[in-house]
Amino acid sequence: MDGRAESAASHPQRQLLRLEQVAHHLLPELVEVERRAHQASSHYDDEPWQAENFTRPLPGKAELSLVALVSGRPVGFLIAARQWHGAHIHRLATDPVHWGTGIASQMLDRLLAGISGSVTLVCDPRNNPALSLYARAGFGVTGSTSAGKVALAGPGRAGAAQDHGRS
Ligand SMILES: CC(C)(COP(=O)(O)OP(=O)(O)OC[C@H]1O[C@@H](n2cnc3c(N)ncnc32)[C@H](O)[C@@H]1OP(=O)(O)O)[C@@H](O)C(=O)NCCC(=O)NCCS
Repeated sequence: MDGRAESAASHPQRQLLRLEQVAHHLLPELVEVERRAHQASSHYDDEPWQAENFTRPLPGKAELSLVALVSGRPVGFLIAARQWHGAHIHRLATDPVHWGTGIASQMLDRLLAGISGSVTLVCDPRNNPALSLYARAGFGVTGSTSAGKVALAGPGRAGAAQDHGRS
């Protein structure tokens, strides 16, 4: 990813926390971000996630998943879990008020930086904002699902610098 993620990281009132660092009482705000993103997006998903979707246990979820905050309030999230190949992104959304300001890029960048192997996800083929975001982050299409979604994979970068140094 390019320097935009860096500029987002240096934005003073912005914070990026792991899900395990986020107080439980902020959960209703994550559900509200999801509701607002779902309402404003044509091709996100059939139904918005509810609280139980956010709290469903998955391997490595608490460490890998991220919550973006502006002035201490949640404005975006990336929910991911560990898989044999690296990680899978189950959900990613930002508050429409902050769309286009680099928050999703910043979360993706942080996830990719901590993963060796690949990061996978599925996306509605009509979801152009999301597909552009993933393309910018180096994701490519690997196939499709029986539900008509596209499957994508992107390169984790953990250990990439050391590997490069050895070759
Ligand atoms: C997709 C989504 C997560 C992007 O979040 P964001 O915080 O606005 O993303 P960023 O500001 O980091 O933008 C990064 C890139 O995404 C793409 N993008 C974001 N919004 C876009 C839009 N409206 N149209 C086209 N591309 C868009 C662009 O490539 C953008 O880079 P650029 O501005 O340099 O062109 C957000 O639109 C969203 O929450 N949508 C609803 C939920 C959803 O669809 N999630 C993904 C499910 S697979």
